[in-house]
Amino acid sequence: MNSPNYHLEELAIARDPRAPRHIVPTNVPEGGRVLDIGCGAGQTLIALDRGSQSTAVGIDVDVAALLLGQTLTDEVRFACARAEALPFSHDSFDFVIARLALPYADISRAVTEIERVLRGEGMCWLVLHPVSHAVRQLLWHLRRLELKGAIYQLYVIANGVGLHLFGRQFRFPLRRNRIESFQTSRGIHRALRGAGLVDVMIRRGRFFVVMARKPSPGSAVTTRARSSEANPVMARGAERTTVGGADPS
Ligand SMILES: C[S@@+](CC[C@H](N)C(=O)[O-])C[C@H]1O[C@@H](n2cnc3c(N)ncnc32)[C@H](O)[C@@H]1O
Repeated sequence: MNSPNYHLEELAIARDPRAPRHIVPTNVPEGGRVLDIGCGAGQTLIALDRGSQSTAVGIDVDVAALLLGQTLTDEVRFACARAEALPFSHDSFDFVIARLALPYADISRAVTEIERVLRGEGMCWLVLHPVSHAVRQLLWHLRRLELKGAIYQLYVIANGVGLHLFGRQFRFPLRRNRIESFQTSRGIHRALRGAGLVDVMIRRGRFFVVMARKPSPGSAVTTRARSSEANPVMARGAERTTVGGADPS
């Protein structure tokens, strides 16, 4: 659980394009229906230039953050829900954001839910944790001789390796309600393709940003995506990787 200060600081960062840690999606369709998974107090949605006709919905497991969000804006609808079980109908959103939330979720279940709630041609925009994040956290705990924190980070690293190699994650054995991992390009690409999303674009720079599209039902791309799952060579070839820099209706 993050403190209210965390969410307010992130709101200030989201509103300041010159802030070093500023990262918000720039291609949100004007007037579209936008869902932010793990929205905290809605900081990203509040800072986004969405156009006056758009509908913004934020979900999070942290009730305190959602209540804080309600004091900050009346232009976002907040709901308490998990990424792995979104309380929305199929094809409800044009754009789904998950900024630094999927590292704390069961990724394959969460991306299956993202694909389900996106309409055909809708896009998702994710910010993930690279392995360097987990290693930094591990060293931080080790320097302070914090054994519990270090053990937890070793779990996060093992989980990231499992996601990379086998597409599998496991819950923290000492606290079964927790699941966390780092992500790799290969791991997230496989999870998104497995959920039926296409045109996966990965940008690894200061931030690990991933975008993907839900094909229209019956489109040639849908058929191609499905058949490529049975053919790992085609699936790899389809990757476009750039290295660089509440119910809405
Ligand atoms: C690092 S914060 C990011 C908050 C916000 N998206 C931002 O970028 O400032 C991660 C958020 O994800 C939420 N979260 C963690 N696990 C979640 C899950 N399984 N489903 C939904 N939200 C989750 C946390 O409560 C927290 O608000």
